[in-house]
Amino acid sequence: MDLKGKKIAVLGAGNLGIAIAQGIVEENLTEAKNIFLTRRHTEQIAHLAKDGFVLTSDNLEAVKASKIVMVCVQPKQLPALIDEINPVLTADHLLVSVITGVSIAEIKELLKIDCAVVRAMPNTAIAIGESMTCICAPDHAEHGIAVQQIFNALGQTLLIEEKMMQAATVLGASGIAFFMRYLRAATQGGVQMGFHSEEAQLIAVQTAKGAASLILENQQHPEVEIDKVTTPEGCTIAGLNEMEHQGLSSALIKGLMVSYEKIKNIK
Ligand SMILES: NC(=O)c1ccc[n+]([C@@H]2O[C@H](COP(=O)([O-])OP(=O)(O)OC[C@H]3O[C@@H](n4cnc5c(N)ncnc54)[C@H](OP(=O)(O)O)[C@@H]3O)[C@@H](O)[C@H]2O)c1
Repeated sequence: MDLKGKKIAVLGAGNLGIAIAQGIVEENLTEAKNIFLTRRHTEQIAHLAKDGFVLTSDNLEAVKASKIVMVCVQPKQLPALIDEINPVLTADHLLVSVITGVSIAEIKELLKIDCAVVRAMPNTAIAIGESMTCICAPDHAEHGIAVQQIFNALGQTLLIEEKMMQAATVLGASGIAFFMRYLRAATQGGVQMGFHSEEAQLIAVQTAKGAASLILENQQHPEVEIDKVTTPEGCTIAGLNEMEHQGLSSALIKGLMVSYEKIKNIK
């Protein structure tokens, strides 16, 4: 979908809504003046006015002026928001929900008209065009592809079945926090070995980026890259095996599954 000149309403300009809006502008999909950022306390986003975004607490004005409506509020805030915008929503609007744990069927139940609803699950790296965004559009395949085009400019995307959305949330959205905790631990290890924290952080972060890029570019199994680093009787295999004795893989998988069980029970 060519967004040039199209107006977009981002309803709920919090962490994710702002990140999406900044990513869209950063990647030149459209200009900031075409993006309405709404929240009830607009003073909290006043600093974004200088970037050219239209800031307002008037959701109706934003929806009336836009073709694409991105819904970025917290799950419990959704019913009141949909109630508010129902009078101005039309069948021509494309509603994109990034809200965790709220199904398309549940959103449609709140709507008074039958407009296209697509779910997208990005992560906060969207602000720098590096999101992993999973998208589902069971009833509107063409809109799913259009939304995918938007998010393709903001990282990588995958069209998935809606039943996989919770797993995508854990792996892709919560995943940012999980990898951050690894980076913090690696930095702390580096400091204990004698680096200043900013030096240790740079080494840990660039190494993590390099490891991820190797897999993305070479499309290999991680173990192939591990084999290249582990000299027989060397320091890497000794450290790696100790991490496994201490339960590294097991802890990660268990953490993911606890997150997954939790998200399945959040209502
Ligand atoms: N953060 C992530 O990594 C991530 C990833 C994927 C999906 N998600 C999902 O994305 C959604 C937003 O997450 P977030 O972290 O960005 O939350 P957040 O920072 O709390 O943002 C929600 C925003 O919505 C605004 N809001 C609430 N009611 C509103 C209304 N009636 N009209 C206009 N604005 C309203 C709030 O501001 P006011 O109180 O000033 O109105 C707030 O700034 C959640 O549903 C979350 O599950 C988040």
